[in-house]
Amino acid sequence: MARVVNVDEYEDLARVKMPKMHYDFYAGGAEDKWTLRENRSAFSRIRIRPQVLVDVSHTDLTTSVLGLEIACPIMVAPTALHKLAHPEGELATARATAAANTVMVVSTSSSHTIEEIADTGPGIRFFQLYIFNKVRAMELVARAEKAGYKAIVLTVDTPILGRREDDLRNSISEPFLLVFFLQPTEPGSSLAAVASEYKDKSITWKDVQAFMKLTKLPFLLKGILTKEDALKAIDICVDGIIVSNHGGRQLDHVPATISVLEEVVAAAAGRCPVFVDGGIRRGTDVFKALALGASGVFVGRPVLFGLAIDGEQGVKKVLDMLKDELRTTMVIAGCPTLAHINRSSVQTPEEKPS
Ligand code: FNR
Repeated sequence: MARVVNVDEYEDLARVKMPKMHYDFYAGGAEDKWTLRENRSAFSRIRIRPQVLVDVSHTDLTTSVLGLEIACPIMVAPTALHKLAHPEGELATARATAAANTVMVVSTSSSHTIEEIADTGPGIRFFQLYIFNKVRAMELVARAEKAGYKAIVLTVDTPILGRREDDLRNSISEPFLLVFFLQPTEPGSSLAAVASEYKDKSITWKDVQAFMKLTKLPFLLKGILTKEDALKAIDICVDGIIVSNHGGRQLDHVPATISVLEEVVAAAAGRCPVFVDGGIRRGTDVFKALALGASGVFVGRPVLFGLAIDGEQGVKKVLDMLKDELRTTMVIAGCPTLAHINRSSVQTPEEKPS
């Protein structure tokens, strides 16, 4: 196999290696996939403004997230069903992410349990929650707390699943997916019973506020795209916001995340950290996100494709490649530390060169 030198090459290999139905489930987006493409295109419209003749002989990519020290501001987004990629599923991802000394957000829809993933060893893990059913959700939060997870990430953009037409075409069915979906099932519970819990579409800000009181863990909201919602999140005192459109899988024609990041950062006004995910495939993308005010980024699909091709090593390599690219960008752009990256490090399409 030719040497993989960037994360997109893992996707190319995965497209060939994985069963089409599984690849499509990972790669797909909602309806016409405009948002899916736009997540990438919007990055390509942002220019980097390098500063030359800066002493870049020492670089530092370390940062802290919710007070936890990590090796660099690139973290693993919650994604469902890692066993579709590799038999070791989330266990391999957890080990690789811990080895990279960064955060893994474990999905509610994982193919291993909260405890199994925690048992892989030390590592900073957050638990991603869907409130399908309030009692069930509280049980999951209690389990995550007990198993040493460091934060709860509530995903707020999924009252129902988006229309992913590749999955419809492939007749990928909920029972099929649930075979890989062990997280909330108890021994003996039927798939139909689990599926029936995917019903609560009534969750509002009030519920979230009440829910937050039931855990001591820091609480982040994932799936905010507007300043209005950012302000509501601040009002209920969340500990962090993740600007996300679910990787273009929920509602087509919502904007690319990188193009609304600044709006959300301005609304948050330093009252909580703002993170972003969606279409991050290069160190330059991470640099642009940091310049526009993100405290860190999350990557989804690249981790899955690295896992599909090379298991634990593949995930580690994806995280290492992105980190190396970020370092290269910082050095050539004249930013030896993350603190050197600021708003003047980039130019967005709306800005005229001064
Ligand atoms: C996701 N995402 C997601 N988000 C979440 O909160 N819970 C989940 O279970 C999942 N599952 C999931 C499965 C697959 C196959 C994908 C591709 C994505 C969304 C994910 O956390 C993240 O928002 C996007 O993946 C980020 O975009 P990129 O990096 O994939 O472009």
